[in-house]
Parts: sequence; C-alpha cells; structure tokens
Amino acid sequence: GKVRAPTHIISTISDDRGEEPCYGGVPMSSIVERGYGVGDVISLLWFKRSLPRYCTQFIEICIMLCADHGPCVSGAHNTIVTARAGKDLVSSLVSGLLTIGPRFGGAIDDAARYFKDAFDKSLTPYEFVESMKKKGIRVPGIGHRIKRGDNRDKRVELLQKFARTHFPAVKYMEYAVQVENYTLSKANNLVLNVDGAIGSLFLDLLAGSGMFTKPEIDEIIEIGYLNGLFVLARSIGLIGHTFDQKRLKQPLYRHPWEDVLYTK
Ligand code: ACO
Ligand code: LMR
Repeated sequence: GKVRAPTHIISTISDDRGEEPCYGGVPMSSIVERGYGVGDVISLLWFKRSLPRYCTQFIEICIMLCADHGPCVSGAHNTIVTARAGKDLVSSLVSGLLTIGPRFGGAIDDAARYFKDAFDKSLTPYEFVESMKKKGIRVPGIGHRIKRGDNRDKRVELLQKFARTHFPAVKYMEYAVQVENYTLSKANNLVLNVDGAIGSLFLDLLAGSGMFTKPEIDEIIEIGYLNGLFVLARSIGLIGHTFDQKRLKQPLYRHPWEDVLYTK
C-alpha cells in the first residue's frame, strides 16, 4: 500500500487546496450564500462546528460591545502613543494588544475557570470569594476602575439581557451575579465586569447549546479560547485609534512632568 510521508504540520480547521477555500469543511461560496456572519466564521474556525444562531449572535454581540472603550483604557493608550511615535499600523495595533492580560480584557478565561470550578463544587459565593482572598488571588471578572454598583457596565447588562432571552439556561451567569452581590457588599467597585460576564455566559453557551461534550468544554476552558474574543474585538478599536491619530497628524507624545511624582 501507499505510505504517507510524515508531515511537519497537522491542521484541522481550514483547507485551501480545492477550487475554493473551506472553513471547517464549509466552502466560502456557501458561507456567502447562506448569509453567514463573523460569528459563524468564528464558530467554524475556533470551535470547528456550526453553532446555532443565538450562539453566533452572542459571539457577534461580544465582539461589537468590546470593540472599543474610549481612548483612556490601557490598550488604546498604548496604541495612541505608538501611532504618535510614527509607527505603522501593525506596530500600533500590537502595542495596544500587548496590554491585554489578567487586569485588562484578558480575564475572561480565568473568570470562566474559577466560576466553573466554584459552581461545580457548589461553593457559596461567600466560600468562593473568601477562599480566593485566602489564596491572595483577585476574583477574575470582578472589579472595575470606573464602574460601580450604582453605575453598572452597560455591556454587562446587554449581554445578560440577551442571554436571559435566548439561552436555554443561564446557571453560570446567575452564579456570577450572586458572586457580584457578595463582592458589592464588600466594596462598591467590585462589580461583575465585562470579562466576568462573557466568561460566565460562555460557560452557559458551551453547556446549554448541546453542541459540546463535557471533555470538549473542559478542553476549551483549559486551553483558554475566550480571551480571543476580547483580543479580536479590541483589535477593531485599536486599528480605529491608529487611523484617528494619523488622520489628526498628532505629534510625538511626551508625558507631562507635572503628572509624574519624582521622588527618591
Ligand atoms: N477580587 C477581589 N478583590 C478585589 C478585586 C477582585 N477582582 N478587585 C479589586 N479588589 C479589592 C482588593 O482588596 C484590592 O486591594 P489589593 O490591591 O490589596 O488587592 C482593592 O479592591 C482595591 O482595588 P482597586 O485598586 O480599587 O482596584 P483597581 O481599580 O486597581 O483594579 C481591576 C481594577 C484591575 C479590574 C481589578 O478589580 C482586578 O484585578 N479585577 C480582576 C481582573 C479583571 O477582571 N480584569 C478585567 C477588568 S474588565 C476589562 O478590562 C475590560
Ligand atoms: C475596557 O473595555 O477597555 C474597559 O472596561 C477597561 C477600562 O479601564 O475602562
């Protein structure tokens, strides 16, 4: 029989060898003809399956709501400074992207991990939050620099509203809300933030859609797919900030001395 020479690369998500490229086995013409959106393309390329409409809509809403959050946040600030230093689009974009991490935009996977673990172990919000405190770990998905109990994050409300209407069940989200109720009783800035909302709701999407086996869900959470949503979304805004600075012909940025505490 034929012997296949060993390959250096294995790839399972797309194929460009035929007449037209395929995403997850679906030819591009079908993607266009069926009126697929970016949520469907993400489903095919990240999750390797077509997801129901409410799931792809949820993915698209996450992307739209996280696309930008003004010029003052970590990512946009870096991008603006880099663009003003005369750097190109890719440099300005990645400079902003590099701020995404455990404090800013990149807490979605850890929020999903910790909320899932606590919920699956039936920990009360008190037990969960206090056990995190004992370990010296801030609860991922909780807390915000400017949002407060009396000035909630609109994005969180919109995502929760969509899920309550369209998801078959929202048990992880309800758990995250209970955690928020407890953390808000400790301090007014400890709201459920957009990372925590996406993390908990994606657990509900994965568990409730019937499209994933339990080992598949565990793998998605373990690998950490969900920060990808923020990275992808925020790239839209960071690219916009780069164009904005170039259009405005902004000069090199230099931080004012008055805003630095020079001390020994
Ligand atoms: N869990 C438990 N306690 C917290 C948390 C949290 N997530 N966040 C703040 N606190 C408490 C701590 O006691 C903290 O004191 P410490 O510095 O000794 O740990 C105290 O509040 C003071 O916090 P602040 O300085 O007011 O918080 P700050 O505004 O600096 O931080 C931040 C905001 C970075 C978002 C923080 O709440 C945090 O680390 N959250 C977890 C990570 C996260 O979810 N990030 C995503 C934010 S949303 C986004 O970026 C799009
Ligand atoms: C964001 O989406 O960038 C914000 O939630 C972060 C911030 O500091 O406001």
